Amino acid sequence: MKNPYNPRGPADPRYYANREYLLSTFKNNIKEVIASKGVTKPLNIAVMGQWGIGKTSTLIKFRDIIQNESKGAKIFSSFVPLKPSCCVDADTFFATVLETVFRDYKTTAPLSEKVQDFIREELDILNRWKLTKLSLSPEVERKQAIVSAVNFKDILLRFWDKLKAHDFDLAIIMLDDIQYVFTHEKGEILYDIRTDMQALAADGALFMFVITGPLRLYPEMRDKAEPFTRLFERFDLVPFDIDGTREQIEKPLAVERIKLTISEEVIRKLHEGTGGHPYFVSLAMRYLVNRIPEGKIMPDDFKAWYPNLIDSFAKEKFNDDFAQATDAEKEILLKVARFPKIEFSPLEIGGRLKATLLDRLVSKGLIEKVGRGRYRLYNPMFADYLRSKKSGKANPDE
Ligand SMILES: Nc1ncnc2c1ncn2[C@@H]1O[C@H](COP(=O)(O)OP(=O)(O)O)[C@@H](O)[C@H]1O
Ligand SMILES: [Mg+2]
Repeated sequence: MKNPYNPRGPADPRYYANREYLLSTFKNNIKEVIASKGVTKPLNIAVMGQWGIGKTSTLIKFRDIIQNESKGAKIFSSFVPLKPSCCVDADTFFATVLETVFRDYKTTAPLSEKVQDFIREELDILNRWKLTKLSLSPEVERKQAIVSAVNFKDILLRFWDKLKAHDFDLAIIMLDDIQYVFTHEKGEILYDIRTDMQALAADGALFMFVITGPLRLYPEMRDKAEPFTRLFERFDLVPFDIDGTREQIEKPLAVERIKLTISEEVIRKLHEGTGGHPYFVSLAMRYLVNRIPEGKIMPDDFKAWYPNLIDSFAKEKFNDDFAQATDAEKEILLKVARFPKIEFSPLEIGGRLKATLLDRLVSKGLIEKVGRGRYRLYNPMFADYLRSKKSGKANPDE
């Protein structure tokens, strides 16, 4: 049995659904930069969106486009997954990014000996820097001002000179989960990245930067993030519409020639239940295909499996979601789930709710704000999950 749905990792680029405008913007810019020999500048792209919406999948798709759809172009690219630990200070951040760029890169044309030598030397220097930093106590470190030892811009500029000398057209650096730069120093790193990106562009180095992050990066961090994000063309990933959901469901089956059809009504129900959220669509499809690997999935099958599907969602996600909420927040969640309409205002679900409680649930990603004073649960199946819960001590007033 083949089951191509895998909600745990980024989507296989061959299965990547929808997001046509984003993909064509990316492809067209690459084409134009190359055709114009850098007169058209590389676009920097910010792919923003909530958890599980497809940010990492998009970067992996970009990588695939660079490798397989850019015939004849000479492009160097690197995908850098960020972690909180690499953002403890600016130098560690830049050293980690450079190290990844020089270790885990892809290139559409082989790198010459000279470029490879350059990379080896830079990795050596970075390594020595790391060892020195590790051996110093924080006080000594401060005194010796070692914190400005890694010059991101200079290194990348020299790297670009090497690439250019070997006819490279473009270098693409993708930073996944940029929000981690806020782990320490309250996002000061953004200023440094911005300055370096501007300097690189001013010196004619053809770097394209692609970043991903949550939607809320902007309003919360306006003062820091705004000048930074002005350098980027921003794309907000939203849940799929019905056509997007259909494509996400059908594409892997077609690619893998799996003899299974999903009835249109089931597609619609899946779409409604998941809210078109790709992670949940993928999770539901993995579950259904495990049970019904071939033939046709009909509305009755879906209905029969639905309670188990909710259980499986609970194990994968909803239990953790619920556990994140405090008792007072749990009470609100259960109330909302019992409310007859999908959207609600704070007044409708029991009057004097503290706005801060709702805000906290929004920032935990469990409730979404849909408009002025209008809210809803982040996922329709989460509502079914909550309704299936016995109201226990989290709900003392009933
Ligand atoms: N465009 C897409 N096409 C198909 N599946 C997708 C797409 N975007 C996301 N997915 C599915 O959603 C899941 C989560 O995507 P991911 O890229 O890890 O999200 P994020 O990085 O935003 O948290 C993936 O495992 C994949 O199954
Ligand atoms: Mg991700």
